[in-house]
Amino acid sequence: MQFCIIEIKTLPLHKKLKMNPFSYGTIVSGNNFYDRKEECARIVKTLSGGNNLVLYAPRRFGKTSLVFKAIEQLEAQGFICVYFDFMPVFSPESFVRLYAKALAAKQNNLQKFAQLFASIIKNIRPVLSFDAAGIPEFSVDFAGSTVDETLISQLLDVPEQMNGANKRVIMFFDEFQEVEKLGSINFEGLLRSKIQQQHTTNYLFLGSKTHLLKELFNNKKRAFYNAASQMTIGALPAPDTIDFLQQKFAGSAITLDVETAKYIISVAANIPHYIQMMAAEIWQYMVNSHKIVTKKIVDDSVMRLLALKSDYYMELFDRQSQSKKQLLLALTMNGKNIFSTAYIYEHSLPSAATLQRAVKGLIADGTVEKLDDEYFIADPFFKLFLATI
Ligand SMILES: Nc1ncnc2c1ncn2[C@@H]1O[C@H](COP(=O)(O)OP(=O)(O)O)[C@@H](O)[C@H]1O
Ligand SMILES: [Mg+2]
Repeated sequence: MQFCIIEIKTLPLHKKLKMNPFSYGTIVSGNNFYDRKEECARIVKTLSGGNNLVLYAPRRFGKTSLVFKAIEQLEAQGFICVYFDFMPVFSPESFVRLYAKALAAKQNNLQKFAQLFASIIKNIRPVLSFDAAGIPEFSVDFAGSTVDETLISQLLDVPEQMNGANKRVIMFFDEFQEVEKLGSINFEGLLRSKIQQQHTTNYLFLGSKTHLLKELFNNKKRAFYNAASQMTIGALPAPDTIDFLQQKFAGSAITLDVETAKYIISVAANIPHYIQMMAAEIWQYMVNSHKIVTKKIVDDSVMRLLALKSDYYMELFDRQSQSKKQLLLALTMNGKNIFSTAYIYEHSLPSAATLQRAVKGLIADGTVEKLDDEYFIADPFFKLFLATI
């Protein structure tokens, strides 16, 4: 019998797999979340005080993470908080399924909830089943009936009935502008009347298509006119971001000086998501071999990220109309007063009317955002890519 000797090499302890301390593309909490104390306090105060609120800001600024922070505090005060994301909704049926699931997710006693559900909603049946791990799941059976306004209206009554034991309910509607996808149903009108009738349920509407949300809540002709107070969030304050980055890098014995931290923030256009994305990339590159973050390391990381996405960016740019292309290139330099004669002349842009249409389209698909009076390319890496062509 022959034996072979296999050498099992173990990595030295400090080289064992370490978790990247930065996190992006997901809701951040715990020590991945910093700042926003005042904003959080305002959300908690408004909702616990029985008012409704609209929170709007460009995507990736941290709305959803902030709202989850507020939910933690409101739940600690005894409120039942139901988070519902409109993004995956694509039809009235999908709304009903997802909404019912979101409500059920907050129930300790699903059996009791199914009874309540059945007593309010006549045309669909609640179904309780068990998954492979024996955990009960709630779903609905349409039993052949179509989703009409009566059904949606009854469904919107459910939160108000859930508030047993003196607990008030707060509904969090994320990406609320997507409500437009419910098209044929007059959801706006229905919800508006519920908001007026319900006394123990409050609503927070949040969304990233700022112009659509503002239109929903500020236009006198729309159902939500004046239905909620409004707030927005901006970038995270630079000194806090610098502290956060320095501390996280220090946890892996990596030094980041203030100037280089500021450089990372500026490359990421001061957008929370891109700051963490940059930091994660830099950390990954440095973790086992480098000790000090340099400007060159930041630049190299940008190049690696750009290389990864250049095909996608090229395709994104290619599929734009001529006027959108011209505008995107102009926006890499400056996004203020873009309809002025001087701007149009300087960047050889088409007429202001054509430009208006181009901007509208680019904002609608999320390529461009508007903050205060300035238009900017939503993804700073796309902007960097455009600057190279
Ligand atoms: N307060 C925060 N502290 C640290 N990182 C944050 C914070 N807010 C947002 N981020 C970063 O931005 C990313 C996007 O946040 P998210 O809450 O999903 O934004 P939005 O809902 O506005 O699109 C997060 O994954 C995280 O990397
Ligand atoms: Mg979000």
